[in-house]
Amino acid sequence: MTRKKIVVTGGAGFIGGNFVQFMVEKYPNYDIYNLDLLTYAGDLTKHKQIETNENYHFVKADIADRETIIALFEKEKFDCVVHFAAESHVDRSITDPGIFVQTNVVGTQVLLDASRAVDVTKFVHVSTDEVYGELDFDPTTFFTEDTPLQPNSPYSASKASSDLLVRAYHETYGLPMNITRCSNNYGPYHFPEKLIPLTISRVLNDEKVPVYGDGKNIRDWLHVIDHCAAIDLVLHEGVNGEVYNVGGHNERTNLEVVKTIISTLGKSEDLIEFVKDRLGHDKRYAIDPTKLEKLGWKPTYTFETGIAQTIQWYLDNKPWWEQIISGEYKNYFDKQYTL
Ligand code: NAD
Ligand code: DAU
Repeated sequence: MTRKKIVVTGGAGFIGGNFVQFMVEKYPNYDIYNLDLLTYAGDLTKHKQIETNENYHFVKADIADRETIIALFEKEKFDCVVHFAAESHVDRSITDPGIFVQTNVVGTQVLLDASRAVDVTKFVHVSTDEVYGELDFDPTTFFTEDTPLQPNSPYSASKASSDLLVRAYHETYGLPMNITRCSNNYGPYHFPEKLIPLTISRVLNDEKVPVYGDGKNIRDWLHVIDHCAAIDLVLHEGVNGEVYNVGGHNERTNLEVVKTIISTLGKSEDLIEFVKDRLGHDKRYAIDPTKLEKLGWKPTYTFETGIAQTIQWYLDNKPWWEQIISGEYKNYFDKQYTL
């Protein structure tokens, strides 16, 4: 396999971090550049195992800083871009939408210009099923790649905008690209503002778990490693210009997810506290992954095996999440919830 220089944006975050480790270990002959601003969601301690590997490199930069990003691309002449960097939390986008436009829209456009400047051979844009809006509770309906974009939150609107820019750079300039739209991820290094790690960490500390509304909203869960394998496949085999949905048919109500975690940890359901609903809360997400399966992908985890592995990981890696929940995150949590 020929040597390649691959820049992974957001490689200090949850999915980008797992992807960087996956790629550094799987492809010793690729140079993997982790480009990340290290916002509240980014941390490099997760990369202790790989930080001395010759094929791992880290660059601290803001993807929306045009001058720095163009200069970096011209210096390093990257072959491929895998773009994860984003503001990713829906609740934060409801209280502070501006940074979502700046990072997710402007940042993506800067990366697209930088990619054109050095003629990258592939730009993989990691997007989300939330750009399709919501489904009702009819279990026979799914998001396909042809579902119209109808984002409902400032977060998903910013992601949909970035998807459209990526598409336009392909149509207008011939940029070789793919867009992936994955359902909810979970697994190691998931930041504890999100439902699954929030529940695990709070249940372990015997603290109340806030469930929005009636807890009947449905998400379609995928283990992060299965998402990483999907992106690797799209990076190497994806047909330029195509969108691929990623999901493993693991629909669960939020209440089912929370109850599964509580019972696995042997705690009481009295820890559940129903709180005010999220504004514009999407009812249900469910992915039809047929197109990606035809490309050769299939998930390795069921929800049952994946959640068991994840809970065990949080039990084994307490210092990682304890250091997060005791820091700046505590101020965020106290403003967000009154429990
Ligand atoms: P995350 O919030 O855990 O990580 C985001 C990373 O981006 C952090 O390391 C952060 O420091 C970095 N970053 C933020 N702003 C930046 C900037 N201006 N310049 C450079 N780096 C910056 O996010 P995640 O959950 O790992 O999601 C990664 C990507 O996957 C996002 O694009 C998200 O939309 C998409 N996605 C997430 C999920 C999910 O369930 N988490 C599902 C589908 C798609
Ligand atoms: O679908 C993919 C998306 O999944 C990604 O694009 C986003 O980046 C990612 O954050 C995630 O968005 P969600 O809003 O679905 O994830 P979150 O973990 O925030 O919430 C999952 C569900 O749980 C949602 O219905 C809201 C609910 N919830 C969430 C939190 C944080 C609660 O009931 N209580 C909570 O405290």
